[in-house]
Amino acid sequence: MIVPGYRDHPTEPWDRVAPVDAEEAEDFLRQCYLENARLGPVEPRLAIVRAQIAATGSYVHTTEELSYGAKMAWRNASRCIGRLYWRSLRVLDRRRARTSDEIFSLLVHHLQAAGSTTIRPVISIFPAAQPGQPYARVWNEQLIRYAGYRGEDGRTVGDPRQITFTDAMRGFGWRGKGSDFDVLPLAIETPAEGVRLYELPERAIGEVPIAHPEYGWFAELGLRWHAVPAISNMRLTIGGVHYPLAPFNGWYMGTEIGARNFADADRYNMLPVVAERMGLDTSRESTLWRDRALVELNRAVLWSFERAGVKMSDHHTESQRFMAHLRNEEKAGRPVPADWTWIVPPMSGGLTPVFHRYYDELDLRPAFYLDEEAIRVARDGTRCPHPH
Ligand code: ARG
Repeated sequence: MIVPGYRDHPTEPWDRVAPVDAEEAEDFLRQCYLENARLGPVEPRLAIVRAQIAATGSYVHTTEELSYGAKMAWRNASRCIGRLYWRSLRVLDRRRARTSDEIFSLLVHHLQAAGSTTIRPVISIFPAAQPGQPYARVWNEQLIRYAGYRGEDGRTVGDPRQITFTDAMRGFGWRGKGSDFDVLPLAIETPAEGVRLYELPERAIGEVPIAHPEYGWFAELGLRWHAVPAISNMRLTIGGVHYPLAPFNGWYMGTEIGARNFADADRYNMLPVVAERMGLDTSRESTLWRDRALVELNRAVLWSFERAGVKMSDHHTESQRFMAHLRNEEKAGRPVPADWTWIVPPMSGGLTPVFHRYYDELDLRPAFYLDEEAIRVARDGTRCPHPH
């Protein structure tokens, strides 16, 4: 979903931000102050904000507004099954950061604040985009992602999803080890410095080696995954103000790794390998070798995170929590926007309660948006459109 006015000039990312929509600002402030009585009456605040918008085209959120607005954006994230704990989001106000060195060290701090065993949901909010002004951003889709390489023979190493981005980073002079799990550098772009690459220090990267509770051979596959999923290319919009750099993280649900990252044919594509090691009959689909391999792969992921003491949830538990969230919100008189195709887990969908109902598909704000251009930059590792 594109915010009207945000991309009036589709070819020039720097010039896209329109003046803040005063009506959206007012809607947000009214709701924020209504839900938080301790903030006092909203009317005096509205007068100030209206004047600020009239004078500058934007306004500055108080710490409380920023913090509650970010929580509301999570609450409104229709693709997220993990919203029960939306109130517990830890909000780091980074609106004073300017240089890419500053941004980088705050991103390292973010990952450390998220933790490597007890994972806490954290968001770091960097400066808001100002009308007509360039803004800082991170090109990567997540703070931690694994590089992908295509060899001469057409075989791939690492995460195929990152091949084009990895190529672009190599074009900037970055060199990976060429392993299946090379952590990509962060590409941080600021108006003053252009794009600069940064290598994350080891203390910021928690990883879990994957083994299986019964199959001794599983560890030999050499699989591992990072502990923290930290989305870094979604725009946070609160009360008409856009925060193009607002990376956030939760903890993993096992199926994200076991049923998608490791299982998808265009990702690590591990099902044929696992099935072969299990000695399954792969000559016909009807043996359900894929499904049997999928279950063991997912057991391995859950068991390995548990063994390493790293927080992760399974899809049954997370589905039950989402049902609790639906009940809570209903009690509070709020709708819960949800996208069935994202909420239902990618394995055993019908075994979970979230499968057996319909949801409201609403675009409520505050919200996180993934802009087309951000998708392209994260995929291609360049701001220039690809020739092909
Ligand atoms: N599915 C994505 C991944 O595997 C992460 C998305 C966010 N997930 C989360 N649990 N907060 O990397």
